[in-house]
Amino acid sequence: MAASQQKAVYWLGNDTLRVSAALFAENRKRLRRALKAEKKLKPGSVILLQGGEQQQRYCTDTDAVFRQESFFHWAFGVTEADCYGAIDVNSKKSVLFVPKLPESYATWMGEIFPPEHFKEKYAVDEVHYTSDIADVLAKMKPSVLLTLRGVNTDSGSTCREASFEGISKFEVNNTLLHPVIVECRLLKTDMELEVLRYTNRISSEAHKEVMRHVKAGLKEYEMESLFEHYCYSRGGMRHTSYTCICGSGNNSSVLHYGHAGAPNDKTIQDGDMCLFDMGGEYYCYSSDITCSFPANGKFTSDQRAVYEAVLKSSRAVMAAIKPGVKWTDMHRLADRVHLEELVKMGILRGDVDEMMKVHMGAVFMPHGLGHLLGIDVHDVGGYPEGIERIDEPGLKSLRMGRVVKERMVLTVEPGIYFINHLLDKALTASQQCNFINNDVLARFRGFGGVRIEDDIAVTADGVELLTCVPRTSRRNRGLHGGGDVQTLQSNLNHS
Ligand code: GLY
Ligand code: MN
Ligand code: MN
Repeated sequence: MAASQQKAVYWLGNDTLRVSAALFAENRKRLRRALKAEKKLKPGSVILLQGGEQQQRYCTDTDAVFRQESFFHWAFGVTEADCYGAIDVNSKKSVLFVPKLPESYATWMGEIFPPEHFKEKYAVDEVHYTSDIADVLAKMKPSVLLTLRGVNTDSGSTCREASFEGISKFEVNNTLLHPVIVECRLLKTDMELEVLRYTNRISSEAHKEVMRHVKAGLKEYEMESLFEHYCYSRGGMRHTSYTCICGSGNNSSVLHYGHAGAPNDKTIQDGDMCLFDMGGEYYCYSSDITCSFPANGKFTSDQRAVYEAVLKSSRAVMAAIKPGVKWTDMHRLADRVHLEELVKMGILRGDVDEMMKVHMGAVFMPHGLGHLLGIDVHDVGGYPEGIERIDEPGLKSLRMGRVVKERMVLTVEPGIYFINHLLDKALTASQQCNFINNDVLARFRGFGGVRIEDDIAVTADGVELLTCVPRTSRRNRGLHGGGDVQTLQSNLNHS
């Protein structure tokens, strides 16, 4: 590691993780190598990325808390807004462009640092002001500027390609870079895995803290707040990776509960199932964890049966994942286990193979089994060119269609939910209704749902489980690393 990189470390003090700038130097190196393998690459190409811009709240002067743009973060690890970065593919030179701040900045925002400060902070070869970008790039004599333009296959949005005054004087290629950098982000380096282990460790501890404190009478948002407080105060996580989902009772079947129209504001009731899907983010690296458990710490027999069914599918999938398996097959495996267990519960009847043919699994798990995780919670690369989504219920919501590879980080998040409108639709669908035992199903209306979501890293022959929370439903069977759900809760509140 270069001496400059040894000094350049992101660290928020206390017990938070130290992340070396070497992580980003390695990412840049991987990107350069991958580009060099492209036949269409012209000698003398220079990559140009534009970082995120500081945004204000609507038309006001109130700054939103800044979070770096993900591709830019992956390549430079820069926390400041309004920057650009260039990488000379052949000479390896990395150049950071920072805004030249007005004198008033020193009054209102603090010290104005010179370019040299950022050169040391981020261990790049050169730092210049963004106002000089056209001149500095011209001196690099690029044959072509490679800018980033491509579609995010989860959102359907196109990422914004770098632009600056004077770019028209350069030859620009905006198609080559995106698929190559996406492919690099798909597989995590050892240093990235270290950060993802940390985000998972802190977020797992935060979930345990929440489980110890849940009780009837509290608001769902109190649990959201406790999670966020733990992640930030203990882990230096200013952001969560996504809006916290803290559903209790029937809300636990609302897949993306917690949004502005349903802002985790119900009072938790005795007898409710809780489904808390929350993940902290550190230095822009994500985590995505769901814990489901009864609010009062004691499973009813129905709650235990549904919970155990989901746990069974989670563990069946984890046991099956290894390089070479198709992710779509893992989704189907989870569906199959759910259907078998729903038959045992008496909710369904008939032959599971026949049920699979008419997509009964998606009635109870309408979302995908899991997705890539990294700098974005739904990380890039799920559907490269040539891999199409399967247009079937359930599978059409799967965010990754690839074959599993070593160094992918994925969520495994099977769930069984009792969503009235899906149940009603199935009951009127001629191919599906005969499989449903409506008398038994009626008992589960309003139950909500169970999701068990863990983050895993794919190894050479299986998986490394990154998440460590209580998973087993019976007392003192401390399997799967995290112990059991009931003991943890009863320690504080429910003994
Ligand atoms: N929390 C979002 C997801 O599980 O994908
Ligand atoms: Mn997820
Ligand atoms: Mn989640």
